[in-house]
Amino acid sequence: MNSNRNLLAVTLARVCFVCVTLLSASNSFAQSASPLIQNVFGRSTLSLNGDWHYIVDPHDEGKSRRYYLNGKPFGTRDFVEYNFDTSPTLHVPGDWNFQRPELQLYEGTVWYQKSFSYRSQPNTRAFLYFGAANYRAQVWLNGQPLCEHEGGFTPFDCEATSLLQDGDNVVIVSVNDTRHADDIPALRPDWFNYGGLTRDVMIVEVPRQFIQQYSIRLERGSTQRISGWVRLSDALAPQTVTLRIPELKISSKAISTKAGLFSFTVEAANLQLWSPEKPKLYHLEISTSSDQISEAIGFRTIETRGTEILLNGRSIFLRGIDLHEEAPYRSGRAHGADDARTLLGWARDLGCNFVRLAHYPHDELLIREADRMGMLVWSEIPVYQGIDFKNRQTLDKARQLLTEMITRDQNHMAIILWSVSNETPKSPERNAFLHQLVVTARELDPTRLITTATNQVSTPAPHQKVFDDPIIADLDVFGVNEYIGWYEGVPADLDLTTWSTPYNKPMIVSEFGGDARQGLHGSVNQRWTEEYQEDIYKHQISALRRIPFLRGMSPWLLKDFRSPHRQLPGIQDGYNRKGLISESGERKKAFYVLQQYYRELAYQAGESAR
Ligand code: GCU
Repeated sequence: MNSNRNLLAVTLARVCFVCVTLLSASNSFAQSASPLIQNVFGRSTLSLNGDWHYIVDPHDEGKSRRYYLNGKPFGTRDFVEYNFDTSPTLHVPGDWNFQRPELQLYEGTVWYQKSFSYRSQPNTRAFLYFGAANYRAQVWLNGQPLCEHEGGFTPFDCEATSLLQDGDNVVIVSVNDTRHADDIPALRPDWFNYGGLTRDVMIVEVPRQFIQQYSIRLERGSTQRISGWVRLSDALAPQTVTLRIPELKISSKAISTKAGLFSFTVEAANLQLWSPEKPKLYHLEISTSSDQISEAIGFRTIETRGTEILLNGRSIFLRGIDLHEEAPYRSGRAHGADDARTLLGWARDLGCNFVRLAHYPHDELLIREADRMGMLVWSEIPVYQGIDFKNRQTLDKARQLLTEMITRDQNHMAIILWSVSNETPKSPERNAFLHQLVVTARELDPTRLITTATNQVSTPAPHQKVFDDPIIADLDVFGVNEYIGWYEGVPADLDLTTWSTPYNKPMIVSEFGGDARQGLHGSVNQRWTEEYQEDIYKHQISALRRIPFLRGMSPWLLKDFRSPHRQLPGIQDGYNRKGLISESGERKKAFYVLQQYYRELAYQAGESAR
């Protein structure tokens, strides 16, 4: 009980501290983003997806020209030199880069405008919810400043009840995706900087006092004791809260505290555990006298024991693949359930039971698909390579992203690993920064494994690899990115390589691979060909078989993806070509090498072929 209350108090304090810190930085908005509403897909909503008018603002003049007032150039004394209503449109959700050729390489500010009709309901509050806006967003509603948010891959919501009108409303959002050294990610990520309102936008309606956040899971080490907490918005009078799982004949009632907290523990006899083979989801309901929300939720345990990763108490090997959030078969950011099904379907065809979502939280609809499909997930915040580790504000931003990621997804049992960074160079500042993030993640969610992907590997002698990055001491599982055969040496060097670590912990090889242009063929020694990539995979797989503490792998990566770093003509043409599948969906030879290995592992694990 107390631990749940402490956990919740910490979550609250952390969310409010971060919001206040960021607010003081910009002081132009009456309020910052509100505490995150979980499970908006279980709520009554008004979708604002569709066509939005837009104005490109390369010199950031929109604010001084007061675009947020949605002025009209005609029939007024005022001087107005813009008109959203006659401006072109962009589709939301979606990046602006691949909707308009002139915006393909644009980085800067774009103003979005959407008119919509709304009718308020009695005793109802309304929040404007954004699934993601890359990178900085400022929101006005009916000409009034509403809220702002920083971070391109996590959701935010803003209370709009007092500004919404019955009838016509206009929301205006300025989105800026300029990169800065103290941002997360910083200046040079190896992926395309897609700008815009890249995920769903909606009005979420909730009662005056509503169920804001909750965490429901099996208690650590137990396969039938379910515990958790529920937090109600606004600490009004204590409420009776009921948690029901009809299929398990569970109905637990209790009174919330004055602070609107309700925590519980219930025994669940005959609970069927969630696993990749059997992704069992239960219908769960939480209700109070004024609110009710339901969720499809699975129950599983995840822990480590020495170098083992245990899912539901059984040792598991993670057969994985990395992927970026890029749409299959078309250019642009992926979003929505269809894209998720296609991408996870490809991973399933590969024989995966695990995906590493690089290097930022992906759309919640993909996580929901992973819950349904039984695909284990590594979710990560974009603390990527060169981050300003000395900067306190950068640490606050990282904590905010971590808090938003965990808050949004903590009830999705597909997620087993929270990653706090990727390939960050060792230094005292970096170690302290990452240590802080690990502490935050454990405070927010003591039930999942904490990890990070490191490439800080020592080579005391040729072909000798020692995984001794000091950050590993803080982690449950460590991820190693190694590119032997591509950035380092040739594939045959893997046959000579030895691997060791001073840590008694499970390791995942979180990246390996090499570029190949699909359809380019030649000898195994010819880089950029399918044969060279295939050879890398053959040597990697036989080398990794020799690592006694290896408990998973996620090669880099499922599909070729856009990156401004990759400009080799006729080969890369703006794409990182390390995918096993080309951007148009064609599979490369290495795909089948990995598929065959994963089928062998699945067979050894006694899994029936899918
Ligand atoms: C790194 C990095 C990836 C990058 C990859 C590559 O390891 O984590 O983001 O794309 O290497 O160089 O292809």
